[in-house]
Amino acid sequence: MLNKKSVEDIAIKGKKVLVRCDFNVPLDADRNITDETRIDGALPTIKYLIENGAKVILCSHMGKPKGEPKPELSLAPVAKALSAKLGKDVIFAADATVVGENAKKAVAEMAEGDVVLLENTRYRAEETKNVPEFSKELASLADVFVNDAFGTAHRAHCSNVGVTDYLDTAACGYLIAKEIEFLGNAVNNPVRPLVAVLGGSKVSSKISVINNLLEKVDTLIIGGGMAYTFMKALGKNVGDSLLEEDYIEYAKEMMEKAEKKGVKLLIPVDTVVAKEFNNDAESKISEGGIEDGWMGLDIGPKTTEIFKDALKDAKTVVWNGPMGVFEMPNFAKGTNAIAEVLADIDATTIIGGGDSVAAVNQAGLGDKMSHISTGGGASLEFLEGKDLPGIVALNDK
Ligand code: 3PG
Repeated sequence: MLNKKSVEDIAIKGKKVLVRCDFNVPLDADRNITDETRIDGALPTIKYLIENGAKVILCSHMGKPKGEPKPELSLAPVAKALSAKLGKDVIFAADATVVGENAKKAVAEMAEGDVVLLENTRYRAEETKNVPEFSKELASLADVFVNDAFGTAHRAHCSNVGVTDYLDTAACGYLIAKEIEFLGNAVNNPVRPLVAVLGGSKVSSKISVINNLLEKVDTLIIGGGMAYTFMKALGKNVGDSLLEEDYIEYAKEMMEKAEKKGVKLLIPVDTVVAKEFNNDAESKISEGGIEDGWMGLDIGPKTTEIFKDALKDAKTVVWNGPMGVFEMPNFAKGTNAIAEVLADIDATTIIGGGDSVAAVNQAGLGDKMSHISTGGGASLEFLEGKDLPGIVALNDK
């Protein structure tokens, strides 16, 4: 359980409440928002604050403008989307300095229940370096701070960490509380069997996750590009597949650790291999190892059956990373099969990481999962067992 104060534990009526959200949403070339999940995720907190008479000052980053105003990374489209979703005008304070004349004026004129959105916090170079000057400026707008940006909780920036040095009250919003409840219960207090499914291209990006999850899970399934390093560690040839030579030893250690802990560690026994990294490339199923001249792009049918079997009686499943190159339809079968089995089983299913979330949504199965995390890097760091600075900085209960 999250031992931090929540919005419900603090006095907000008539107060200016600075709310850090993660409105880092994808935009198309015309700056239309193509996925509003993160905006929807922030609504319960914003609505609660409006309904309870707060003056709601929202802030967020968008992309990586590297400390300069970049019009293509303005939060203006988010203000528009929020106005529509809340059914009320969200005043957008379009200051290149974020806390500028527009923001100060808009905040000074706020009535209870009003909502102001500040410009992209990363327009300021201080933001990502957590420089006190900008934290103070942000804090000067408000009486209390609420953090609901789970997706950014693994960063220690002005708008989610520094600002708490200058405001006495710092609580979490409903989204952070929900994310921590699902992810925290899954790894620390799961209904068993607990199965983790890890995929994605690199072992190196999941080292700490594998290590930490081996302490917690009953079964660990490894697919995707990272599986080839494990196959190599088992002495198999992997042809031209993704391989991280420097991590072969690590993969061996993890297999030994799994055995010692009594954790079932499943690695692919067959692979869909192709001549090139291309949806229409010549392909075939390869059992055991992979010949030179071929690269693995998806788990094979036998592996899919083994993975499905390991998942069918699971009571809690955490999935991070696709099983193959799911963006290419010919190599999406393994990933889709995992999404389908998770949609079917009677278990708490938690999806984290941009790619697996995209895969589940692409398969149209998003609403069949218990929880889809709004955090990519943040959910991964949580699964690594790390403390998230954006949460640590909040007031204890
Ligand atoms: C994300 O998209 O994972 C968060 O918004 C954090 O963004 P960042 O990786 O640019 O800090």
